[in-house]
Amino acid sequence: MDLKIAVLAGDGIGPEISEQGVAVMTAVCEKFGHQVTYQYAICGADAIDKVGDPFPEDTFKACMEADAVLFSAVGDPKFDNDPTAKVRPEQGLLAMRKKLGLYANVRPVETFECLIHKSPLKDELVRGADFICIRELTGGMYFGEKYQDDEKAYDTNFYSRAEIERILRVGYAYAQRRRKHLTVVDKANVLASSRLWRQVAKEMATEYPDVQTDFMYVDNAAMRMIQDPRFFDVMVTENTFGDILTDEGSCISGSMGLLPSASTGEHTPVFEPIHGSWPQAKGLNIANPLAQILSVAMLFEYFNLEAEGKLIREAVNASLDANVRTPEIQVEGGAKYGTKEVGAWIVDYIKKK
Ligand SMILES: NC(=O)c1ccc[n+]([C@@H]2O[C@H](COP(=O)([O-])OP(=O)(O)OC[C@H]3O[C@@H](n4cnc5c(N)ncnc54)[C@H](O)[C@@H]3O)[C@@H](O)[C@H]2O)c1
Repeated sequence: MDLKIAVLAGDGIGPEISEQGVAVMTAVCEKFGHQVTYQYAICGADAIDKVGDPFPEDTFKACMEADAVLFSAVGDPKFDNDPTAKVRPEQGLLAMRKKLGLYANVRPVETFECLIHKSPLKDELVRGADFICIRELTGGMYFGEKYQDDEKAYDTNFYSRAEIERILRVGYAYAQRRRKHLTVVDKANVLASSRLWRQVAKEMATEYPDVQTDFMYVDNAAMRMIQDPRFFDVMVTENTFGDILTDEGSCISGSMGLLPSASTGEHTPVFEPIHGSWPQAKGLNIANPLAQILSVAMLFEYFNLEAEGKLIREAVNASLDANVRTPEIQVEGGAKYGTKEVGAWIVDYIKKK
């Protein structure tokens, strides 16, 4: 297969983990005889510094011309700490999602047996947890009408029936391929937007009699996720709730550096870690590249290249079992491996297979 990949490394640890993702992608393509070409493009704070726009037109063009985007992370403290900044790196991320119509963000949360003890939760609670959070990505408060002055501010949590329906369809498709259990997470006891979500979901549930549909308030879901994460199979929720709940989900896996995601919709799909640019770690060679590398696995699987995705997952598991791990998940007294060394070990594993 010919694959044209737009690579958006972004800021902070972005370029370091991106390099490892690209190296793994190249190794897998060589192994399976795929032709891959990369188009590098700027975004985030890097692009603001260079051209004054966090998602420049040339970057959008590169994304549109590609089969998939391998994205890393954006964000820089000089913008985080300046509430008056007119242009912000995260606007680039939102612009990319909107312009590519990426309404479905699929975030798997799973455990790795050898990392169970890294979760702050008890082993017996997290062992076997395996669910997918499907986060609506182009609606809600992140995109609704906003206002801010020195005395008041608001963000509008707008959702249309069509937006709710299309994300629920993605959820049902996943549920049908998995354990056939869909949980709609909302705040229907307080929010009108959530009541519409619930109404639409109740109507649609009758179309999917093979799937058990249940409803949970987001506050309850936040609690249930740490009390009994194995309850969940597929969770579908709005933009803001999904953003928050999936960070909580990283505690189940044991590190933010382990969770990949796929954002799909109308145009080119984007594969990215769920974490941010972790600016404090920039250049220190300590960021875990596995979330980025597992995003590459999701990329292959998106194109039905299952064996390619499986080989990456096998290599990632082997690296963890061999204690080839970045510091935040290394065992006590374990050898020191950095971003580069973990990436190189995985590339080597793939080449030797
Ligand atoms: N998709 C994105 O690009 C995205 C997402 C979230 C935050 N951000 C931005 O990133 C910047 C930093 O935000 P933050 O500190 O809230 O979130 P963050 O995800 O960058 O970091 C939070 C914590 O997670 C851990 N972590 C993150 N990535 C890791 C990795 N690869 N390996 C090991 N541990 C890792 C670290 O302990 C870190 O302190 C901000 O500018 C924020 O706006 C961007």
